[in-house]
Amino acid sequence: MAKAIKVFAPASVANVAVGFDILGFALDKPGDEIIIREGSKPGLVITEITGAKGKLPMDVLKNTAGYSAHRLLEKLGALDVPLEMEIHKKMPFGSGLGSSAASAVGGVFGVNEFLKTGLSKYDILRFAVEGEEIADGAFHADNVAPSLLGGMVLIRDNESLDVKKLPIPKGLFVCVIYPHIEVLTRESRGILKKEVSFKSTISQTGNLAAFVAGMFTSDFDLIGRSLKDEIVEPQRAHLIPNFYDVKEMALKEGALGFSISGAGPSMFAMCTDSLMADTIGAKAAEIMKTSKIKTDLFVSGINLEGAYRF
Ligand code: HSE
Repeated sequence: MAKAIKVFAPASVANVAVGFDILGFALDKPGDEIIIREGSKPGLVITEITGAKGKLPMDVLKNTAGYSAHRLLEKLGALDVPLEMEIHKKMPFGSGLGSSAASAVGGVFGVNEFLKTGLSKYDILRFAVEGEEIADGAFHADNVAPSLLGGMVLIRDNESLDVKKLPIPKGLFVCVIYPHIEVLTRESRGILKKEVSFKSTISQTGNLAAFVAGMFTSDFDLIGRSLKDEIVEPQRAHLIPNFYDVKEMALKEGALGFSISGAGPSMFAMCTDSLMADTIGAKAAEIMKTSKIKTDLFVSGINLEGAYRF
């Protein structure tokens, strides 16, 4: 057995406008790197965390990566196996890019690979979702499932983790705009109304169903007509300065859709080629400058592989 292994778990875009808590896709970059190595005493310890400005706990049971791995070890009856974990955060947190989900995925996936348990990614999905749950207080797999499994994942039911990867039409590119402001998922969830009108439910259901059909048939026009969020986006847009200006620009540039990535503040534009994604990114950065907000841009295809060892 190797003495140490390194794994990567990618960032992800959750909700994708039409599927609050039930739809998400993985990006090629950014993401987290996690190293798992043989320890010197029984049990799992976190020995190092970088890229988190001291904001993440070293305590295994309070850390998303530590906890997801702990749940797997518990299931295996292997809590005494000496293991060390290093967490290298290579993505911003509070960004809406599934940072805590990437760590949770990296932790459990890394330990699963290191121990060569023979369990599949689907077998360990629940542990990763439980890891993320300790960060945002809710059990939903719309970041964790794509980060672990790759691709665009539809979650029919979060409780039973009944998930299905959708086909990805050739040519889809994403421009993610991350404004340097922090929006905490817990708070961004807290402001949402608990009731949804009958009318909105009908529109959103139609859009989600049509989006899925569009993905299966590579019908970009249908995808473009469907990528709309009537329920959550209007309630969260005020958290992101210039949101509607950037959206208007992106749609004018030909984006199939534009919305908030996860709980925000990142935004995403679904594009039909990489040039469109680059153009939208550059123009978005200019617009955000008017509010004196710096941005990072991530132009990426949809990551089909999810977490991997490298
Ligand atoms: N579906 C989640 C939300 C994603 O929008 O609150 C962020 O965890």
